[in-house]
Amino acid sequence: MIVCKDIVTTYGGKVIHEGANFHIKSGEIYGLLGGSGSGKTTLLKTMIFLKKPASGSVKIGGVDIWRATQEEQQNIKLQMGVMFQFGALFSNMSVLDNIAIMLKEYSKFDSSDIDEIAKMWLIKVGLKPNAMSLYPSELSGGMKKRVALARALALSPKVLFLDEPNSGLDPISARAMDRLVCELRDSLGITVVMVTHDVDSIFNILDRFLIVDNKKIAFEGDLKQALAFKDNPLKDLFLMR
Ligand SMILES: Nc1ncnc2c1ncn2[C@@H]1O[C@H](COP(=O)(O)OP(=O)(O)OP(=O)(O)O)[C@@H](O)[C@H]1O
Ligand SMILES: [Mg+2]
Repeated sequence: MIVCKDIVTTYGGKVIHEGANFHIKSGEIYGLLGGSGSGKTTLLKTMIFLKKPASGSVKIGGVDIWRATQEEQQNIKLQMGVMFQFGALFSNMSVLDNIAIMLKEYSKFDSSDIDEIAKMWLIKVGLKPNAMSLYPSELSGGMKKRVALARALALSPKVLFLDEPNSGLDPISARAMDRLVCELRDSLGITVVMVTHDVDSIFNILDRFLIVDNKKIAFEGDLKQALAFKDNPLKDLFLMR
């Protein structure tokens, strides 16, 4: 589904990734792990048209996204849903309008169909129908995350990119978010790429993951391989279990 080859990223003169190679399979929940500031968000951004690599290629469904035509890029963008690390909702819009915003922008549905589709996603992410008319300031942290997730799903993407979906959630809400991500993958057959620090998520929902350390991909594989691989930068995290 996604193949990244020799990705080099820089900000100004500062190198963040020095040749990252990894691939993400269709239908898997794939994790981007690493310490704070190691470059997880930057790596995610190279896959969603927000950070052009200095060199290397990102292929999604066989298309080299940074060298594609504008039309091809537009098609790929419409097949991706993104939930940002600090992705705020629009505070002056209701929950329903927040979810519907991409549909209004990019779909050809009329406004009553758009409302119906937005309501469907509201239910799908586990919110009650009466939440639709609330404003962001009236929601709990977990509810806000669910609305942001519904917004990312609105155009029925093939790939969902999540940057720290559990950050700021209490442990119970974090586990509920994990279950939701799994259910969405199972019921919609989508591919999920998520940045996470959450040890429980790593243990419970990731199929495979990579670890960024010191500008390189220090590890790529599944949990079993990671546990057997004593020299990885997350070993302290794993040993806690
Ligand atoms: N827009 C930017 N301009 C300049 N430097 C940046 C920019 N964005 C990130 N960086 C730098 O790139 C490095 C990697 O940042 P990035 O946000 O990718 O890390 P991260 O692994 O997502 O961290 P965190 O876990 O704290 O979210 C950091 O040193 C950061 O300061
Ligand atoms: Mg980040």
